Amino acid sequence: MNPQTSLPARPGANRPHNPSIHPELTGALRAAVAEKAEAARTLLADAVAEFGAALTFANSLGAEDVVLTDLILTAALPVESFLLDTGRLPPETYTLLGELEARYRTRLTLYFPESDAVEAYVRAHGVDAFHQSVELRRACCRVRKLDPLRRALAGKKAWITGLRAAQSPTRDGLAQRENDGANGLVKFNPLADWSEAEVWAYIRIHDVPYNALHERFYPSIGCAPCTRAISLGEDIRAGRWWWEMPENRECGLHARHP
Ligand code: ADX
Ligand code: SF4
Repeated sequence: MNPQTSLPARPGANRPHNPSIHPELTGALRAAVAEKAEAARTLLADAVAEFGAALTFANSLGAEDVVLTDLILTAALPVESFLLDTGRLPPETYTLLGELEARYRTRLTLYFPESDAVEAYVRAHGVDAFHQSVELRRACCRVRKLDPLRRALAGKKAWITGLRAAQSPTRDGLAQRENDGANGLVKFNPLADWSEAEVWAYIRIHDVPYNALHERFYPSIGCAPCTRAISLGEDIRAGRWWWEMPENRECGLHARHP
C-alpha cells in the first residue's frame, strides 16, 4: 500500500497559520475544555468498566481522534485503537501515525483492505474510478473501509469514535452514547457536543501531535484522492468527496438510523 503524493495546499494558503485551528485560549474556552475533557474521560472510563476488551477505538488520526488518543492514553485506559489503512491515505497521515506512536509509546492496530478485492475493483474499473460515479465511489469505500471495519469490529461489543454533532447535518443530534444498529454495537462519541474551537484548544493546551494538513486548510482528512483543502467560509466537510452532492458525502462507516 503506497502512500500518495503529498496533498496540495489551498491556493493562497501559505500563511503563517490557519486561524480556525489556533483559537484564542481565553479563560472561558480553557474552562469549557477542562470541563468537557473531564466528562469525556469519565465516559471513557465507564465504557472500559462496562465493556473491557470488547471495546475498541476507531482512530482516523483526525483532530478529534488525536484528542481522544490523548484522553485515553494519559489516563492509561486499556483501549485498543485501530486505523483503517485504505492504502490511499496521504503521507502526512502516516507521518502523524509515527509521531503519535512515539509520543505515547503505543502501536495502533492497522486494518488493510483485502488485496483480492482491491485487485478485482481496480481491474474492473481503474485505479481512480471513485470519481466516475457515486456507485463506484461507494464500492471503493466498501472494499477499502467498510469491509476492514467489519473485521475490526468483529467480536467487539462497543466502539469509540471521534464524531461531533456540529461536523455535518448528517450528524445532527448525535448522542455521546447510542445504539449502533448497523453494526449491532454500542457506540460512544465522547466529543459529540464539542465545538471545533474546543477540539483545537485541547490540542494546543496539551500539545498533542496533529496532521500537518490541518495547517493547510484540511479540517477533515480522509483518503488523498477524495480530500481537498477548503476555502474560507466553506463547510468543514466540504473537502470530502467534493464532487458529489452534500447528502452523499458519507462513506458508510457511520450509517444513522432514524
Ligand atoms: S468519514 O465517515 O467521513 O470517513 P470522518 O473522517 O468524519 O468519517 O471520521 C469520523 C470518525 O470515524 C472518526 O473520528 C473515527 O472514529 C472514524 N474513522 C473515520 N475514518 C477512519 C479510519 N480510516 N480509521 C479508523 N477510524 C476512522
Ligand atoms: Fe476509495 Fe475515496 Fe472511499 Fe478512500 S475515500 S475508500 S479512495 S472512494
